[in-house]
Amino acid sequence: QFTNKIAPSILAADFGSFTAEVAKIKEAGAEYVHIDVMDGHFVDNLTFGSGVVAALRPHTDLVLDVHMMVESPEKYVEEFAKAGADIMSIHVEATAHIHGALQKIKAAGMKASVVINPGTPVSAIEPVLSMVDMVLVMTVNPGFGGQAFIPETMDKVRELVKIRETKGLIFEIEVDGGIDDKTIEQARDAGANVFVAGSFVFKGDVAAKVQKLRDKL
Ligand code: DX5
Ligand code: ZN
Repeated sequence: QFTNKIAPSILAADFGSFTAEVAKIKEAGAEYVHIDVMDGHFVDNLTFGSGVVAALRPHTDLVLDVHMMVESPEKYVEEFAKAGADIMSIHVEATAHIHGALQKIKAAGMKASVVINPGTPVSAIEPVLSMVDMVLVMTVNPGFGGQAFIPETMDKVRELVKIRETKGLIFEIEVDGGIDDKTIEQARDAGANVFVAGSFVFKGDVAAKVQKLRDKL
């Protein structure tokens, strides 16, 4: 029931041609477009806001998977919903009100997803697992593309699979950071089914790279 999905991250795309880059992602057969929103506070980098989501929405029917690396993400739920985001992922480390923030995302009509950094244990999100559509396990520290995959994070993916089974819950498991045609196998074996990839996909031919990932699934 948890089908595999590939989610190219436009953080590694040409910022001057987002619509063309998203068209390439679609042609390559990916399912999601991963959109990394950073505020320069939660992480030491700045990217873009809901304006980019609103600009892309009329040009694609792909699932817009928005990863919020911002403090107090609950403040931005409505504007991203209006912009046309399909999934909103928020970090448990970024808010004092994770339960309420996830409720807000669902009430706004989006799929709700909770994210844990490499240093955050699964126990930090256990109380909200029954209300999320997806859990994003960071496989690098957030902020920048092109970092090395942290293999120890796979223990948490396996732990989530177990909890999901035991409690009869339904949520997808996404991994993000350092995913290429080798690390994707580790993530798949651990039980993830949504694979974000930035630099690997956008360095070279997008269609060929997405196919390379798909071949490993
Ligand atoms: C990192 C972002 C990732 C990033 C992944 O903070 O959340 O989505 O784009 O890039 P790669 O695949 O290059 O590690
Ligand atoms: Zn991301």
